[in-house]
Amino acid sequence: MAESQTPAPRATSNRSTTPVSETFKDYIASNWAERDDAVPSAREQAPYAAARRAKISAMHPGKRLILPAGAAKMRSNDTDYPYRAHSAFAHLTGWGSDSEPGAVLVLEPTANGHDATLYFRERAGRDSDEFYANPEIGEFWIGPRPSLAQVAGDLGISTRGIAELDAVLESVDDNTLLVREADRDITDQVDGRRLLAADSASEMPGPDDADSGEHPDDDVLARDLSELRLVKDEFEIDQMRRAVAATKQGFDDVIADRPAIIAHPKGERLVEGTFNRRARADGNTVGYDTIAASGPHACILHWTRNNGPVNEGDLILMDAGIELDSYYTADITRTLPINGRFSPIQRQVYEAVLEAADAAFAIVKPGIRFREIHAEAMKVIARKTGEWGFLPVSAEESNEPDAQYHRRYMVHGTSHHLGLDVHDCAQARRDMYMDGVLEPGMVFTIEPGLYFQPDDLTVPEEFRGIGVRIEDNILVTADGAENLSVGIPRTADAVEDWLL
Ligand code: GLY
Ligand code: MN
Ligand code: MN
Repeated sequence: MAESQTPAPRATSNRSTTPVSETFKDYIASNWAERDDAVPSAREQAPYAAARRAKISAMHPGKRLILPAGAAKMRSNDTDYPYRAHSAFAHLTGWGSDSEPGAVLVLEPTANGHDATLYFRERAGRDSDEFYANPEIGEFWIGPRPSLAQVAGDLGISTRGIAELDAVLESVDDNTLLVREADRDITDQVDGRRLLAADSASEMPGPDDADSGEHPDDDVLARDLSELRLVKDEFEIDQMRRAVAATKQGFDDVIADRPAIIAHPKGERLVEGTFNRRARADGNTVGYDTIAASGPHACILHWTRNNGPVNEGDLILMDAGIELDSYYTADITRTLPINGRFSPIQRQVYEAVLEAADAAFAIVKPGIRFREIHAEAMKVIARKTGEWGFLPVSAEESNEPDAQYHRRYMVHGTSHHLGLDVHDCAQARRDMYMDGVLEPGMVFTIEPGLYFQPDDLTVPEEFRGIGVRIEDNILVTADGAENLSVGIPRTADAVEDWLL
């Protein structure tokens, strides 16, 4: 078990390696100035994360809860994807882009709640070869790493070295719940321990959960952690505002870059690059792959290949969001006439989508059900496509649950929760999400669209190849709703002025 805590060195035999002579080791281990061991005071998010831990603690009395951050994911050989800690881990620790890969949060049950301990690999001393000879975690290679005391101060959580996690994993029993998807190695170890515990509890193991490979209690924890994020706290709402503000800057950058974008044969890539530059400069990264879909590509809902041109006269659909260092992300779509003016037909489609978005927004307040937002937007989509003569039945008939002809032009949903994940709270129960009742502090998107495929014979030729989506980020308030992205131009006239 201990080996699994120490990453095996990766295949680097074809690259020159650090000298191993004792002379070299002694020399490189000496003559370093004292490190800065100052312990920071707790970050702004620390008390919020503590309050979240208290909530999940109250939901699982007497249970040990294990939340891994997850290990780095290999891209190829000894190259990894950019690291991102699991969102449930980030939510309960307040650790974001500065998380240490492989860290694990453990909530150990006590008489009246839980004690939280964060296990991670603290920096190595100068007397170890780790700091200069280990390309994955050595400070020579990846930069300074914090001490246990520094992280404890920063997050307001007790910390221990990762080697001490072994004792926790060795004592896994029926009372242990795990976030399974975060770290494959830890999940394997926990399952192995459960099997051993089940075997020793019964000489004739029955078809219990550990033996069947199913872990319904883990699923309950995943569900509860998802539902815990449905209502955002004050810190999270502030982060969402900041993520939206940074995202507006990214859209502004793209608009300023239009001449180069139009001139380049892969103009969509320039849109992506310009937006993503802002994401790296002002945030952590993008919250999801930027969709830069010009002309008929706008009819491809998740167009991220982004290898097409942006031609004069095109509408470009840009769906992009900046994730901050706290990992909170915006998710905004604007559809822009690249040469500054909507054609009459483009404007007609755009204004129908805007009407659907506005109708949906108008009903948002505490007490309504989440799914009513989509239903409201769909009434407009059905009415408009009916008025234009695209439906084989009336708009009312099309809106019947077993008809839905208008959905040919908008196959996706209207709203999803938003926060640490672009599709946040995804493991919440239907009763709490789709059929759930809105509460102040919920944040979600409203994103209707109309997409007329280039080869769709049900619509007149002039509509074919037009795709429009308008996506805003909405906060439920005490008595209604606030459109957090209202400052990013969204009416057809305001969009044209933005492009002037
Ligand atoms: N950007 C993905 C979505 O809008 O849901
Ligand atoms: Mn969205
Ligand atoms: Mn989006």
